[in-house]
Amino acid sequence: MPKPILVANWKNHPKSLDETRSLLRQLSRNSKFYKKLSFFIAPPYPYFESVAGRLGKFGHLAVQNISSLPPGTYTGQVTPDILKSFGVRLAIIGHSERRKFGETSEHVAKKVKAALHAGIIPLVCVGEVSRDQDGEHFEFLRDELKLSLTGLNRKNDISKLVVAYEPVWAIGKSARDAITAADLSQSVIFIRKVLTDMFGRKTAEHVPILYGGSVEPANAEALLSETGIRGFLVGHASLHAKSLGAIAQSLILK
Ligand code: PGA
Repeated sequence: MPKPILVANWKNHPKSLDETRSLLRQLSRNSKFYKKLSFFIAPPYPYFESVAGRLGKFGHLAVQNISSLPPGTYTGQVTPDILKSFGVRLAIIGHSERRKFGETSEHVAKKVKAALHAGIIPLVCVGEVSRDQDGEHFEFLRDELKLSLTGLNRKNDISKLVVAYEPVWAIGKSARDAITAADLSQSVIFIRKVLTDMFGRKTAEHVPILYGGSVEPANAEALLSETGIRGFLVGHASLHAKSLGAIAQSLILK
């Protein structure tokens, strides 16, 4: 059985290096849980070294974005080869907070290829902005997924792909406002179907699908019950060692 996957998306937190060190110290007290998972932390770049130093024993370094450019003279870009040299294993690509500022699915598709080329796992985020009664959000989801994965056809590439379903309306709220297990399982079935149409059943069935959007200890267990997800992409709750530890335990018991 492949391990459940837990990705901590720290966004632009903690507020300082001192706070980062303190959070890492607290997280390492639960290292025995994290070792049972494929566990990743995506910190802001300046905290890389601190995180990599601590995490070596129980998790892996991830990034919140990746450049699609090759090594070269690109002011302000951090290219995949540099990230790889720091030990980055996974890249969150196409997060809605980046799409909001103009990142398109076409950009996402290029970044996915760049990540794969560098040997970094692409965690491709998709999710509707709002849900509607007529199910039109499924069309949105299908188009976003297809465009974001355009040009991927090598079985070898798809075997490294991870998809995160993150409905935009459910991000940054509380467990109470997150998606229900019933709606989540519908979306996961739908995503799996789109992947199957694109890559064939045998290949598609192995692509891990994660859920993200207000995952907290209060809803983690319910979201895992027969919804077909392999793990979580966690934002605000990943900044609290106790909350992340509890979410990790739910994944282990799954
Ligand atoms: P949240 O964020 O857990 O704070 O909703 C998830 C994400 O944006 O990846």
